[in-house]
Amino acid sequence: MLVLGIETSCDETSAAIADEQGQVRAVVVASQLQLHQPYGGVVPELASRQHSRDMARVVAETFSQAQCTWDDIGGVAATYGPGLMGALLVGLNYAKAAALARQCPFIGINHLEGHLIAPELNHHPMPKPFIGLVASGGHTSLYLVQGEPLARYELLANTRDDAVGEAFDKVAKLLGLPYPGGPAIEKAARQARGTLPRFSLPRMKDGSLEFSYSGLKTAVRTLVDRKKKNGESLDIPEIAAAFQKTIVEDLLQKTMAHMERHHARGMVLTGGVAANQALREAFARVMAGRNLPFFSPPIKWCTDNAAMIAVAGAKRLMAGQRSEWDLEAVPNAKLA
Ligand code: KG4
Ligand code: ZN
Repeated sequence: MLVLGIETSCDETSAAIADEQGQVRAVVVASQLQLHQPYGGVVPELASRQHSRDMARVVAETFSQAQCTWDDIGGVAATYGPGLMGALLVGLNYAKAAALARQCPFIGINHLEGHLIAPELNHHPMPKPFIGLVASGGHTSLYLVQGEPLARYELLANTRDDAVGEAFDKVAKLLGLPYPGGPAIEKAARQARGTLPRFSLPRMKDGSLEFSYSGLKTAVRTLVDRKKKNGESLDIPEIAAAFQKTIVEDLLQKTMAHMERHHARGMVLTGGVAANQALREAFARVMAGRNLPFFSPPIKWCTDNAAMIAVAGAKRLMAGQRSEWDLEAVPNAKLA
């Protein structure tokens, strides 16, 4: 059986075809990066419209790459949330209509489960329970993943305000760097000479190990404003490096605390921010020091794609799960 997966939760229109063993036959991703670039962030209305334009073409290209036809498809999976309402609706309704027309089973997949299935998508065995950190423009979510063959997910920590990628994007804007901010900050940080300003993160009053980056963004803004007011020049590489270092240390320290608390046997880092080399290296170093397996997928599997949805869908369909035809798009869908 082949499964068609569809993903349109944010600004990537993607389709993929996977087989029942979770082998990806083809995946096509149409990125809207250039469309949203002038606005410094994703514009929801524009995203949905572009998904509508691209959806059918992306699916046709996926079939062509996989060298198969609709007759080979035994199930359809689509992201139902979390994500942007209008964007989700395009992919979800396309998938339902396709499954209905083909009279094959349909399943809605939580986008975060897609990200957390990264080890399987890459045929990289991971001992359970493991901790999975989804760090992207929309999420900073830490999960305990356990159970076979279908995983169960427990949300351990979330962001209280800005997602980590959002913080990169906003700070880049403050520094006059282009969108998306993550790669721009990482590049600037490489030029830093080491006399970094110090940023500290607020300690959670209740001692919780959740994430919060809006205070850090404000600290950068205050520094930038002060320098401008005093007529001083902005040392962008130094500020970028200090910001990035603060984030890397915070993510690492909280993740390690959760790992110890839950006796996790491994760690998975995924989402767009996992493209950050400093972050990957810091995690890889600490995990190696503790002799714990660490996995971060190749960058193309860190960012949004339908391969992860097709593989998660194939697993659930094989286990006999189905979604109802009235499954709604849920912008703040929880994963449990
Ligand atoms: O997963 P993704 O492609 O889309 C969302 O689901 O949000 O993640 C995009 C986010 C953006 O905020 C971008 O600035 C960030 O990931 N990002 C990075 C890097 N590359 C992308 N953040 C830090 N360092 C990077 N190298
Ligand atoms: Zn995502």
